[in-house]
Amino acid sequence: MTLRIGDTAPNFTIDTTQGSIKFHDWAKGSWVFFFSHPADYTPVCTTEMGRTAQLAPEFEKRNVKPLGLSTDTVEAHKGWINDVNDTQNTVLEFPIVADKDLEVAQLYDMIHPNESATATVRSVFIIDPNQKIRLIMTYPMTVGRNFNEIIRVIDALQTTDRDEVACPADWMPGDSVIIRPTVSDEDAKEKFPQGWKTIRPYLRLTDIK
Ligand code: BEZ
Repeated sequence: MTLRIGDTAPNFTIDTTQGSIKFHDWAKGSWVFFFSHPADYTPVCTTEMGRTAQLAPEFEKRNVKPLGLSTDTVEAHKGWINDVNDTQNTVLEFPIVADKDLEVAQLYDMIHPNESATATVRSVFIIDPNQKIRLIMTYPMTVGRNFNEIIRVIDALQTTDRDEVACPADWMPGDSVIIRPTVSDEDAKEKFPQGWKTIRPYLRLTDIK
């Protein structure tokens, strides 16, 4: 199955390092950062798991639950978490799915067979509290993800949901945002009483809190 932005994130029941979870129940009311990695006890993955653990307060501030996945067992994950904590100087507290039968990996198209028949590539799904997929990103085995970008895109999605705006290239929190082309100037006067700058009729920038 090909998953697309706007689809409901498929539900599943699976063992994790924190017991069995029913995904939709576990995720209820939160954003989810669901990410796969090729294997336990591998160097790039170790740094990614450490970084996710270090960012726990940032995820919590944004009402985001991280959920990792690889195709190893719960026992392997637990042993490896000790290594992650030791080497990355952190305490990893989010669950990691033990997908040894590739059940969830297949459901989320995380196996790219021309890369590996059994190991997941570095997939990212950002899922909103309505359980809709809002972002899909796939990285190769040999390149670790940019976690600043993951936090940035969550901030951008939450901002565009709240204020009916859009975020320009390289947007960071605090930067100007774009008034959506679907909002007329007349409606914009009401929605954005602080005013805006018209670069082109379709490109209007405004500042929000
Ligand atoms: C790693 O996580 O270090 C890794 C995993 C698979 C292939 C290459 C690197």
